[in-house]
Amino acid sequence: MTVKTSAPGKLLLMGEHAVVYGYPCIVAAVDKRIYIEAKWSDNNKDKVIAPGVKNTVFIDMAIKVMKEKYDITQESELKTLSDFPPNIGLGSSSASTVAAVKALATLFNITLSQSQLFNLVHTIILKIQKKGSGADVAASVYGGVVYFKSGLIAKINIPSSFSLIIGYSGSKADTVSYIKKVSQLYTERRKEIDKLFDQIGALVEKAKKALESNDMPTLGTLMTQNHQLLQKLNVSTPQLDAMVEASLTAGAWGAKLSGAGGGDCMIALVSESKRDKVRYAIEKAGGRIINVSVDKRGVR
Ligand code: PMV
Repeated sequence: MTVKTSAPGKLLLMGEHAVVYGYPCIVAAVDKRIYIEAKWSDNNKDKVIAPGVKNTVFIDMAIKVMKEKYDITQESELKTLSDFPPNIGLGSSSASTVAAVKALATLFNITLSQSQLFNLVHTIILKIQKKGSGADVAASVYGGVVYFKSGLIAKINIPSSFSLIIGYSGSKADTVSYIKKVSQLYTERRKEIDKLFDQIGALVEKAKKALESNDMPTLGTLMTQNHQLLQKLNVSTPQLDAMVEASLTAGAWGAKLSGAGGGDCMIALVSESKRDKVRYAIEKAGGRIINVSVDKRGVR
């Protein structure tokens, strides 16, 4: 028997970093996925073949944890395939872990609810990464746009006018080192950073309302304000700032870095009429356009 699963990558829309400290964020699944094929192994060894994944540690850990948890002694073989490269910050590690756990559960004949799957994957990721909010895991499991706060998940309907342009800055950021950087800042200047997080949290709540009422101009303004607060957290880069600035000048409703910062991607919220202009402006500022859009489908 071969089991086939897939899980989407993600984009952080609002609230990154603060979410690690229990504040809310909004995260979206995208139409780029990681696929896994799992079967029982015929050579007495667990085997992972993962060309499209940066590092197999997450999948290796998924196999270890699942076998221990469900008392499985038989070996399995997992093969991955990816719609996107692991180096652009779309969450390949969490998507591959979600797809792997789902595949193993199916192979082991175990039914997991979405929340059980979320909890299991979050635990597996924390075993390796030590820190992380789990927001990326939530997007990968549930799909669509997710409001996430300390493991609590609420789905938000995607309004028809919601349209993003994604620009890749050309450099890869190491999420864990940026989480550590913020944690150090938090230790050194706690009062000030608490205030910044409060402000980010308030923007996220307003952004949720703006999304729910299909108010894109307001959402855009909130995204840009979120970017300014992330600049104060020292996680932006001149390249990301230039791409954000260029998008705004070209008429985007709003723009911000997406994710841990230090590189990876930025996102711009645009009306249909400004799409081409904003795409061009991001490219002119040195960014590469990544063609992804928000997708309703979670793990399957
Ligand atoms: O770098 P990314 O895209 O995986 O996003 C990280 C988001 C953080 O809030 C910085 C960390 C987290 O675990 O939520």
